[in-house]
Amino acid sequence: MNERDTEQVLSMFLAGGYDITQDEEKADVILINTCSVREKAELKALGKMGLLCARPTAKPWVVYGFMGCMSQSRSNSLFRDIARLDIVTGTHQYHNVYKLCNRLLRNRLAQNIQEPIRKGAHICAVGHEDGFQNEIKDHLPPAGNCTAFVSIMQGCDMRCSYCIVPSTRGEECSRPQADILREAKELVARGVKEITLLGQIVNRYGRDEPIVNGRGAFVRLLEALHEIDGLERIRFTSPHPIGFRQDLVNAYTYLPKLCSHIHFPMQSGSDRILKLMLRPYKNEKYLKLCEDMREARPDLAITTDIIVGFPGETHEDYLQTKAAVERIQFDNAFIFQYSPRKDTPAAAMAEQICLRVKEERNHDLLECVNRIAIAKNNALVGTLQTILVEGPSKNNPARLQGRTSQNKPVIIDGGSAQVGTIVPVRITECTGFTLYANVQQ
Ligand code: 5AD
Ligand code: SF4
Repeated sequence: MNERDTEQVLSMFLAGGYDITQDEEKADVILINTCSVREKAELKALGKMGLLCARPTAKPWVVYGFMGCMSQSRSNSLFRDIARLDIVTGTHQYHNVYKLCNRLLRNRLAQNIQEPIRKGAHICAVGHEDGFQNEIKDHLPPAGNCTAFVSIMQGCDMRCSYCIVPSTRGEECSRPQADILREAKELVARGVKEITLLGQIVNRYGRDEPIVNGRGAFVRLLEALHEIDGLERIRFTSPHPIGFRQDLVNAYTYLPKLCSHIHFPMQSGSDRILKLMLRPYKNEKYLKLCEDMREARPDLAITTDIIVGFPGETHEDYLQTKAAVERIQFDNAFIFQYSPRKDTPAAAMAEQICLRVKEERNHDLLECVNRIAIAKNNALVGTLQTILVEGPSKNNPARLQGRTSQNKPVIIDGGSAQVGTIVPVRITECTGFTLYANVQQ
């Protein structure tokens, strides 16, 4: 979601005549889009901005800004941490970032500032505006991309006891279907082949709308997107067991453009911990949904998020999580050590788990997840797959990289296929998490 929001801001700067640079020395405006889901992400952003603001630079006028979730939750206090910071914009203000930065930069350039600035402009914009579903604005991804994110909703009405998102992203709010379809069609006209729908709980999209012929608003949205000529692949992230109905399971049987991958956060395999997490369902419901989807789409790759060391998690609870990992055989999993977040119920729970135990469980579970993931990847050697060729490989620009429907990265020889096309390949080699393949004629 942050990637998408960043793209939206970048596209406004581009439209205003700016260029994008990865070189800090060249930049006149430096923005960091922040995440506050875990403490580590916040510390990283604070550390980086601290270093940037303190560096000697030939451009004293540079505008420094924080955007996103950490801005939303810490707002003005960030200026106490970093006096040189200019702008702090929250999660409902992405569409104003360009205006604020541009105005400040133009002012400073007009003043012909030569001396280092010790105290920034301290502009804080973290408010809400009315009709905020309209804040989900269309955005154009950088030209030449064949994949794009499309935001379909904002916020989250769940109250998972560990999670800061409801307080940084606000109430759940769906975007009108017509807006989403219009944006998707524009993207396809610009060469996009694959769209990833974004929302905190995508399957709750339009949940106030009626069920029509057994299909809820989210599945009807998938069906409508499926009709768009030239759109080849549809993904979404992330779903939640609450509100995950049979119509979405069935969608895997009749919507071939829907990719064979789902990122479906499990969080814990213990009912006791799920209850403490205020996730109102039993783990068996989650496991059954995974198995039902695999029945509907046998090659479905399932990845997940798991938190270890949630307050009160016993060894027995942890073993239940591990057993669930073994049962579902995830294609991959992100494992997070529980991180207490400001003003969340779990942060105030008595039985916090010590770092050593969190690390042990993290390490042990990672080994289990990796063993399963690598075995699954190895099993793909020799198979035929289709990949969407996305661009040069990051490690070797002479080669190209694409992704299978299961979202597995595949490297092919450069020149053997065109970027932005979907090509059949045979997997020849696997080095753990990367697959290598030959293009089939
Ligand atoms: N500590 C650790 N992990 C967390 N997540 C969310 N909040 C926390 C927290 N306080 C994880 C969840 C979520 C993912 C995006 O981040 O697993 O699915
Ligand atoms: Fe956070 Fe839970 Fe909402 Fe996901 S569903 S964003 S974990 S509160």
